[in-house]
Amino acid sequence: MEEKKDIYVLGIESSCDETSASIVKNGTKEMATVIASQIDIHKDFGGVVPEIASRHHVKNITMVLEECLQKANMTIDEVDAIAITYGPGLIGSLLIGLEAAKTLAFIYNKPLIPVHHIAGHIYANSLVGELKFPLLAVVVSGGHTELIEMKNHYQFNKLGGTLDDAIGECYDKVARVMGLEYPGGPKLDKLAIEGDVTYKLPVPLKDDSYNFSFSGLKSAVINLAHNEEQRGNELRNADLAASFQKVAVESITNKVRKAIIDKEIKNVIVAGGVAANKILRAAMQELTDELNVELSIPPMKYCTDNAAMIAAAGYYAYKDGRRADLALNSKSQDTLK
Ligand code: KG4
Ligand code: ZN
Repeated sequence: MEEKKDIYVLGIESSCDETSASIVKNGTKEMATVIASQIDIHKDFGGVVPEIASRHHVKNITMVLEECLQKANMTIDEVDAIAITYGPGLIGSLLIGLEAAKTLAFIYNKPLIPVHHIAGHIYANSLVGELKFPLLAVVVSGGHTELIEMKNHYQFNKLGGTLDDAIGECYDKVARVMGLEYPGGPKLDKLAIEGDVTYKLPVPLKDDSYNFSFSGLKSAVINLAHNEEQRGNELRNADLAASFQKVAVESITNKVRKAIIDKEIKNVIVAGGVAANKILRAAMQELTDELNVELSIPPMKYCTDNAAMIAAAGYYAYKDGRRADLALNSKSQDTLK
């Protein structure tokens, strides 16, 4: 019998404010990952500034790639394919990673694998365990809020998504109302522990779809803060954090419950930065226990943007026969398919 060859994929991710490279073996084993984060740079602006992000990607990309190969103790010749986040994301940021990936693919004659950023967040889970189908991916991050059904590897069916703001974006904006520094999501999460659910906020989009909406909730919080100020009442930030979280998380779990039942889901995975949220994790655990479904949430380091998830997804895309040529372009928006 022919011996099965190990496949090493080099993944590159630069869709937002992290420049990252990683080598993953057979879609499951991380050999090395390097991430250059720009959080400290964008903090002063209260959010990611696209132009500044692109400039830092240019500055970081070569160093990140070199360090990744060094850490893995490998040469680029030993890599079987190059996986790149082609979108969605900030176009200027995406282009830096894409050009680097294309250049390496051309010079070293390696297959170029286009990876959708959300596929990466989903496949972060294959670095820690096996995906079981039919699967429901709950993608919750600063840029995305989506429910994706998968009947098999690399087959994506988007059930629904946000009609306006992403949940992480909403967390960050609400956190700003409370005077918390960007990215405020994790700080709001922490603050909520000290508070009680005392403020009444509307659960958004209580309908029969798989969609979400967060801009109304954000406005409700801003209005509430305004009204309290006008009445001369002090805003109880911890209570507001707890009240906001309850509603935001409930709007996710309502739709997840419906999808699990309608689609006979076996495995729910939660992906993206907001997967770190304590209340969401607890609510998802409770829901999946109740419905007898397996829940997987990747460890924090794989929840936020990184190239290991892109390399892992890249392996399955490679097995699925997906290839790009040097005409591949970045896309700021694109449906996962
Ligand atoms: O996945 P990610 O690193 O970047 C995107 O692809 O968007 O997600 C970052 C987002 C930010 O909005 C951040 O505030 C949010 O995830 N986040 C959290 C928590 N940790 C990170 N939101 C709520 N609770 C948390 N514990
Ligand atoms: Zn992301």
